[in-house]
Amino acid sequence: MTAFATAPVLTLTDLARMAGGDLVVRDVPSGATEREALLRSGVDGVSIDTRTLAPGQLFVPLAGGATDGHRFLADAFQKGAAAALCERRAYAAWEGKEPGPLVLVDDATEALQRIARRFRDGWHGLLIGVTGSAGKTTTKDLVAAVMGAAGPTLKTEGNLNNHWGVPLTLLRLRPEHRTAVVEIAMNHPGEIAALAAIARPGAAVITNAGSAHLEGLGSLEAIAREKASLAGALAKGGVVFAGADSSRLLAALKSIKVRTVRYGFAAGADLRPESVEDLGPLGSRFSVAGFPAIHLRLIGRHQVANALGALAVAREFGVDPAAAAAAIESLRPGRGRMEVRAFRGATLLVDSYNANPESLRAALETLAAWPGATRRIAVLGDMLELGPDAARIHREAGEAVQGAELMAVGAFAADLVAGAARAGVAARVFADKAALADALAAELAPGTAVLFKASRGAALEDVLMRIGAQG
Ligand SMILES: Nc1ncnc2c1ncn2[C@@H]1O[C@H](COP(=O)(O)OP(=O)(O)OP(=O)(O)O)[C@@H](O)[C@H]1O
Ligand SMILES: [Mg+2]
Repeated sequence: MTAFATAPVLTLTDLARMAGGDLVVRDVPSGATEREALLRSGVDGVSIDTRTLAPGQLFVPLAGGATDGHRFLADAFQKGAAAALCERRAYAAWEGKEPGPLVLVDDATEALQRIARRFRDGWHGLLIGVTGSAGKTTTKDLVAAVMGAAGPTLKTEGNLNNHWGVPLTLLRLRPEHRTAVVEIAMNHPGEIAALAAIARPGAAVITNAGSAHLEGLGSLEAIAREKASLAGALAKGGVVFAGADSSRLLAALKSIKVRTVRYGFAAGADLRPESVEDLGPLGSRFSVAGFPAIHLRLIGRHQVANALGALAVAREFGVDPAAAAAAIESLRPGRGRMEVRAFRGATLLVDSYNANPESLRAALETLAAWPGATRRIAVLGDMLELGPDAARIHREAGEAVQGAELMAVGAFAADLVAGAARAGVAARVFADKAALADALAAELAPGTAVLFKASRGAALEDVLMRIGAQG
């Protein structure tokens, strides 16, 4: 049993109660004091992966992935897990040889969510949910940075934004946190509302509503409604910060009775910049009334929009304007999110982390406006999860390649190229990433700017690897 210097975050009895499960402990101590101590012991965090599990944590074996997490129960305890959930269907294999305290439940994911919901209910700070078609993670980081300037702030780690990530984030809440900024994603209808019911946000930031996840949602209006549902889930007196440049989002929010603060470039926005200067590889400089001028290091106009969202949050919650501006200035691009790399005299704009039609358009605008470039090349791969309209959407995306050449790879490469041809853009299809990389290597020269963009599944970084520019 793990010994805690202070009380554990959750005791074994808390866990069983919150999960609605049954605690099973082999060799329960016979002495009353020892038995008491056992029940008062517990876990100091939660992990779903034995490779990253820290001693004292609860291990949650998930069955949704490639392998059933129950296979790793013994491993988890060897690594110092203080307890584990175990689905009843899998318990037979462990009965009588439990490797540590187990909480038996019907469904581990559901139990994780129940524990997280009850745990979150015991925390009383400001929880800000962040959703949207593009820019969630960046906006989450920007909002957390400004709120962090005013007090201890928890934020979603990386991109842990789904039915597992949201509960794991909530379970990291501690009494000292005054604010939590939680990324909430969806790929099927109702998911945002379900996650919001667990997180219970007091405020929401919705970046935009586009066509990402069209496959799961069916129509653009349905996507906008789904995003807007986060606003509908806010507690009484809540406020939603909405990307003002997404008219579909604003339309979907109209039917929801909640105070809305619109941020962005649109004329009607409640918070909009007075001036914006594109600094190319150095980001942008912009100014907003009430704040000092800001030098944002993230690249592209869409990132200015995300920063405006963070400023809207800062203004609403009374963060010192100079501190908020400094927090925004401190942020640097995440890996694969419009990273600028110099390579063989050329400039590589590595935005290969992910792509959907909105983020592709934003990236193409950045490429088209790239200062000092005498030649521009867009290296594009597939955008996934777009459903039956995928071919048409790729043709439209190809058409948006302006002032650049196109090198395309993937199942929709021909569609991208067909669109580009309609726009009079020189375009080539490649059979695979290796062929594209070899052709690209021959084109790199001073003055050339190359954008890399595709969905995560396309792993476009393989092209960078092959040309030796993985960074
Ligand atoms: N406001 C925006 N509008 C359009 N595109 C954006 C915006 N913000 C960021 N992007 C683009 O989207 C890409 C992904 O950014 P980010 O990771 O912040 O989004 P996300 O919504 O969290 O994505 P995911 O769905 O993978 O979680 C970036 O590389 C950038 O090109
Ligand atoms: Mg994200």
